[in-house]
Amino acid sequence: MIQVALCPSEIRRISATDLGDVTAVVFDVLRATSSVITGLASGVEYIIPVRTVEEAHQRKLADPDLLLAGEREGLPPQGFDLGNSPEEFLKIRGRRVVMTTTNGTAAIESVRLASQILIGALVNLDALADYLFTHPPRSLLLVCAGTGEEFSLEDAIAAGALVARLPDDQAASDSAMMVRSLYERVGDDMDWWLRQTQNGKRLQRIGKGADITWCAQLSVYNLVCQLKGGKIICSTK
Ligand code: MLT
Repeated sequence: MIQVALCPSEIRRISATDLGDVTAVVFDVLRATSSVITGLASGVEYIIPVRTVEEAHQRKLADPDLLLAGEREGLPPQGFDLGNSPEEFLKIRGRRVVMTTTNGTAAIESVRLASQILIGALVNLDALADYLFTHPPRSLLLVCAGTGEEFSLEDAIAAGALVARLPDDQAASDSAMMVRSLYERVGDDMDWWLRQTQNGKRLQRIGKGADITWCAQLSVYNLVCQLKGGKIICSTK
């Protein structure tokens, strides 16, 4: 069965259930999961997702070589080495990173008891679909990280793009069929649609419009990343 958690309250509800058999794919297209994939594809060693800015600072105190990355209100928190733009993650080859973002890293943390946690973005979509085809999960949960407490269109579109690439015989829930239809409506206009979203508009307001174009690219990385032992690492290239 393919299920979709469409917003943070649904993520909380589902994460309170038994996720022991579940493969979760977490999408935060604008921008956390797109930045994670970009970083790992560019040679970042691993990324530790944490919920709070304080926890990120604590980790760095314990291990000063770590880089602090992430955002609050779209901008790097005080004392951080980098923000949440994919292009910043292109330039930190070989480094180890602690990351905290408003929704993305919180969503990853929420499903930490799933049997497998994959990081989903448009930039690695075909690699993810291939991986799920060759490693069919008993149960698949697509997690749309959202914006604040709200549903976010860009995460639902990406979840739909993944559903559209999976074999038809995988039983899709109503929400999975809905996100697939949404993706089919978007077609080749991904960049335009992402710019119409609340998150897309906010990024344009703070001068981060170029990030949207980056995050809207389909399958530019042949890479699957997953959370293992609290670290996001590449599992295939
Ligand atoms: C988030 O985790 O909420 C986003 O990645 C926000 C952003 O990139 O500004």
